[in-house]
Amino acid sequence: MINNYQKKRKLGDVILANPQLLRLIYRFGISPGFGDATIEEVCHKHEIDPEFILVIINSFLDNDFSPSNMLDKSNLNQLISYLRKTHEYYLTVEIPFIESMIDDLCADPISENPDLVVVKRFFSAYKKELTEHINKEEKKAFPYILLLEEQLNSKSQSIKMADSYSILAYEDEHDNVEEKLFDLKNIMIKYLPEPFNHEIVNRIITELFWLEKDLHDHARIEDNVLVPKVKELESRLKTITRKAT
Ligand SMILES: [Fe+2]
Ligand SMILES: [Fe+2]
Repeated sequence: MINNYQKKRKLGDVILANPQLLRLIYRFGISPGFGDATIEEVCHKHEIDPEFILVIINSFLDNDFSPSNMLDKSNLNQLISYLRKTHEYYLTVEIPFIESMIDDLCADPISENPDLVVVKRFFSAYKKELTEHINKEEKKAFPYILLLEEQLNSKSQSIKMADSYSILAYEDEHDNVEEKLFDLKNIMIKYLPEPFNHEIVNRIITELFWLEKDLHDHARIEDNVLVPKVKELESRLKTITRKAT
């Protein structure tokens, strides 16, 4: 493990060493101006569980960080809430930001290159694919998981397994939505027809790298933290319903 940040570290120092975390903590409503406050102090101010934010920070910084044992079942709600905030960030902040740079690139009067529209078409198809991926999780998987947890937490005797869906179905169809970004970066780095505004292209490529890494990390949390937790809930619920019949 290269970076295992703890609650008593000053958040400002952590950000100075890892500025890419700014976008991550923004999803929790945290923005610069934290002075010398520690991670724990900032979290208390924003009513966020410091243990949870540390899991997210450390897993973002270290691909080998294994957060599953640090998240017990009571964290499922906040985990889904974080995943939802991240989806919202992609669709309302990051994708529109890249889109606006691509619009600037295609509309640049100095280059006037109609071939650049290929980048626009590619990204617009990518946006559609990402939106569909997110909608599937938001409308199907997450409500199922929250209902599962609610059933387990209720004292009701009438709980039953949903027979039409399980986390296995989610796992089977959970595709790598960041892969197409690699293709777009490849096209832009190797084959973009001249002339074009180099500065804008460099900015777009840098942003695509960032989004690809962030999406990869997001999927890692879904696959390695969310799925095992839900499997555990499903098997607990199965045991309870078996005993009840
Ligand atoms: Fe997701
Ligand atoms: Fe996903």
